[in-house]
Amino acid sequence: MKIIKVKNYEEMSKKAAKIIIEAVKNNPEINLGLATGGSPVGLYENLVKDYKENATSYKNAKSFNLDEYMGLPQDHAQTYYTFMHENLFNHIDIKEENIYIPKGDSANASETANEYEELLKENQIDLQLLGIGTNGHIGFNEPGSKFDGKTDIVALTPETIQANARYFEGNHDLVPTKAISMGVGTIMQAKTILLIASGKNKAEAIKGLVEGQVSENLPASVLQNHADVILVIDEEAASLLS
Ligand code: F6R
Repeated sequence: MKIIKVKNYEEMSKKAAKIIIEAVKNNPEINLGLATGGSPVGLYENLVKDYKENATSYKNAKSFNLDEYMGLPQDHAQTYYTFMHENLFNHIDIKEENIYIPKGDSANASETANEYEELLKENQIDLQLLGIGTNGHIGFNEPGSKFDGKTDIVALTPETIQANARYFEGNHDLVPTKAISMGVGTIMQAKTILLIASGKNKAEAIKGLVEGQVSENLPASVLQNHADVILVIDEEAASLLS
């Protein structure tokens, strides 16, 4: 595991963006695995800036998002579909038909999950971006998720619902309770994994990821078993590492 420590959120965003930009330049037909949430917002800003200034092209790239809330219409302000378009896709030259996000409003969610898993088998992810939950979740794979888990319908823990309430007028009753998420096993199929974390509230989870026991109680600890993982973490997130 390669650990890159940086000063703060801004530096994390720049450094991680640089890694992605290099990867896209080296392989224009790259399959990118992408994440949502607060962690990658600055990173995506840097990708957009680079696209405007240097024209790094995504027209031959494909993207596959980790997860999507269930039960919200696709155009709802808080779907990950909307998030990705507003923060990244609307501002670069990726083709709409090359953008894959699980459909959280599908009539048959379990079929949608199975189809997404099949899609990922046919399109191995070259570079998977991850954030990490305060409880060590990756994607929406909460503590206790099986390490060999596939894309599936998952229930969000009260901790994650609370953490995400900030996007729903601070009201946790408005946060969907279920999502479709790549499984831990699905995520582990990626060739390279890039995990970013910033802030004190991530320090415990980062310590568990890097130095803890590999255990399904801390899903991110599975990354100790992956051959090519890069962490870009800021001082606060790294503050409990020995
Ligand atoms: C997002 C995702 C989640 C987040 C995690 C951290 O697609 O799968 O695992 O990466 O909840 O969220 P933030 O970055 O908001 O702290």
